[in-house]
Amino acid sequence: MKFRAIMGALCAAGLMCGVSAVQAAESIEVLHWWTSGGESKAVGVLKDDMTKQGYTWKDFAVAGGAGAAAMTALKTQVISGNAPSAAQIKGPLIQEWASQGVLVPIDSVAGDWKKNLPPQIDKLVQADGHYVAAPFSVHRVNWLYINKAALDKAGGKVPTTWPEFFAVADKMKAAGIQPIAMGGQPWQDLTLWEDVVLSEGADFYKKALVDLDEKTLTSDKMVQVFDTVRKIQGYFDTGRTGRDWNLATAMVINGKAGMQFMGDWAKGEFTNAGKKSGTDFICAVVPQTDKAYTYNVDSFVFFQQKGQKAATPGQLALAKTIMSPEFQEQFSLYKGSIPVRLGVPMDKFDDCAKKSYADEQVAIKAGGYVPSLAHGMAQPDAAAGAISDVVTKFMNSQEDSKTAVQALAKAAKTK
Ligand code: BGC
Repeated sequence: MKFRAIMGALCAAGLMCGVSAVQAAESIEVLHWWTSGGESKAVGVLKDDMTKQGYTWKDFAVAGGAGAAAMTALKTQVISGNAPSAAQIKGPLIQEWASQGVLVPIDSVAGDWKKNLPPQIDKLVQADGHYVAAPFSVHRVNWLYINKAALDKAGGKVPTTWPEFFAVADKMKAAGIQPIAMGGQPWQDLTLWEDVVLSEGADFYKKALVDLDEKTLTSDKMVQVFDTVRKIQGYFDTGRTGRDWNLATAMVINGKAGMQFMGDWAKGEFTNAGKKSGTDFICAVVPQTDKAYTYNVDSFVFFQQKGQKAATPGQLALAKTIMSPEFQEQFSLYKGSIPVRLGVPMDKFDDCAKKSYADEQVAIKAGGYVPSLAHGMAQPDAAAGAISDVVTKFMNSQEDSKTAVQALAKAAKTK
């Protein structure tokens, strides 16, 4: 059999379509932190896709929600000259890595990205006018997941304001249900805290967490934010120390707890457990944030391999696959997110995703589309880390809110 005939046969068998034998041998090492049930299923789609194209997928998964452990592992790898082919990086960190001169551009596969991405995201995945990151999907952070049976048993209704929320939490408590499932890592504290910041309005959120405006950070409203967080803490169980986010989600899935504040990767867990929105669980927007949308967009960046300044065929194929409409759809169906690529049909998605999509369009037009601080979209690492320390200290001590806002304003100055 001639070479072309062999390749044709392999392609017909669903293997190695359109790649040369040299490319086929390329192995791509991929660093990510998608290790929960829903997350693994979603990244598995990419792995299968790349394997079908003839590449060898070397999985470098570093467990730990929101990626803190993965980012530490990545630094070690790059410093020791063993940068992976691709790594899960997002937000301003993309620019930080690009400025180190260790990334490769992927412009040759990004020809139509500008017209297929929301402008905010299109800007984020470029550095110095070159595309350096491939975006996966949009996660909305300001969600509250509710176990439907728990809500019904407590005789409560879906809360849209904080007073309504506390009323439901009290009812659950009275019915013998743990009102809130909460995990125990700093990023989970920060996720809840930014939800409460958002509940003071998208403009307040932007001034506080995007502009880091000192007046806003020390305002009475910000004192109120910390007071509300303190009150919400009163409904946590005592076992949250060190608990992973997906274990907290599991508590809501199996009815051990009534509610969880979490971004919609949590919905990937409900879906993976065979649960249906509206019947088994409810995806509600965090009280008083219905017009706003905290976005969190995952992406992969691509590292120079063996000192080569250009992307390898495997890296380009990976970037191209990530942005393809078919992959965007299947990945988000498993992940709980919505496609970041515009124009991907939403008909296979559930009500929660459809709501996310509709609310995103409204929020983009009305100025309520804001980057999540807790998920690395709003600030460089240093400032985000310092703010996170303040929030975690507050949530793990008896510090008063006025002291916390002073510490917050100081942390915001961290460069
Ligand atoms: C990531 C999600 C991930 C979640 C929990 C977030 O920061 O953007 O993709 O599922 O962390 O690990």
